[in-house]
Amino acid sequence: MSDQYREAVEFYDHFAQYAERPDIGFYVEEGRRARGPVLEIGCGTGRVLIPTARAGAIIAGLDASAAMLQRCREKLADEAAEVRARVALHEADMRAFDLGRTFALVTIPFRAFQHLLTIEDQLACLRCIHRHLVPGGRLIMDLFNPSLDLLANRPVNVEQKEGEPFALPDGRRVQRSFRIGAQDRFSQVNDVDLIFDVVGGAPPSRSVQAFRMRYLFRFEAEHLLARGGFVVEHLYADFDRAPYGSVYPGDLIFLAVKAS
Ligand SMILES: C[S@@+](CC[C@H](N)C(=O)[O-])C[C@H]1O[C@@H](n2cnc3c(N)ncnc32)[C@H](O)[C@@H]1O
Repeated sequence: MSDQYREAVEFYDHFAQYAERPDIGFYVEEGRRARGPVLEIGCGTGRVLIPTARAGAIIAGLDASAAMLQRCREKLADEAAEVRARVALHEADMRAFDLGRTFALVTIPFRAFQHLLTIEDQLACLRCIHRHLVPGGRLIMDLFNPSLDLLANRPVNVEQKEGEPFALPDGRRVQRSFRIGAQDRFSQVNDVDLIFDVVGGAPPSRSVQAFRMRYLFRFEAEHLLARGGFVVEHLYADFDRAPYGSVYPGDLIFLAVKAS
């Protein structure tokens, strides 16, 4: 598969909306509670994985992007030896992997599951996870809750700036914009472009990260989890554990247990 993150990896950790995402504390707490090793699927640059390892969890990270994993390794090199010793990284596809070990908790943070575009791929991933969990082990994944207003009214093929330009370590400033190139309401797949414009001072340049993302509705995801062999224990709308239904659209944060 192509590495959809190769172009954008240099920007990933510097975009404030990612760096300040309130999911880190939530996943760190769950990693601590797991009382056993954790597997993070789609671990990327280690935005969640590294704080989880710092908090004492033994954690494996799996990702299909060699570029994102390389960035994660570079960041880990700056960590204390005992943090590094708790981490293992694997380049693999979440739809077909065999790590030869089991985990107390598997997480799929920041909507990585939505990169899977078909029910077959989604089930293949859930079955892999099921095999990698100890009896009674848990799966936590978050998705965005599709906003009916945005689905109906969001303009297609229009670039929208996301916040102010952010700085890279070398001083360049980057404006990120977002564009939905196409919205297929039948297959529930959006074509997304994340646009990175280097602005001010440095020679202007543009990189575009293009990918497709499938949205899932609440009950669809619950049925899918049941088919994959999971029982939903909790569904939150926010990382402060606000219950589903308390904010709209909020997120879909599933805590599920492996059915025996
Ligand atoms: C939005 S990023 C999330 C990264 C990290 N978990 C975080 O929260 O910052 C999604 C990640 O999923 C990975 N990914 C996408 N499709 C994948 C697949 N089929 N198998 C494994 N990883 C995949 C991407 O390479 C990317 O690193």
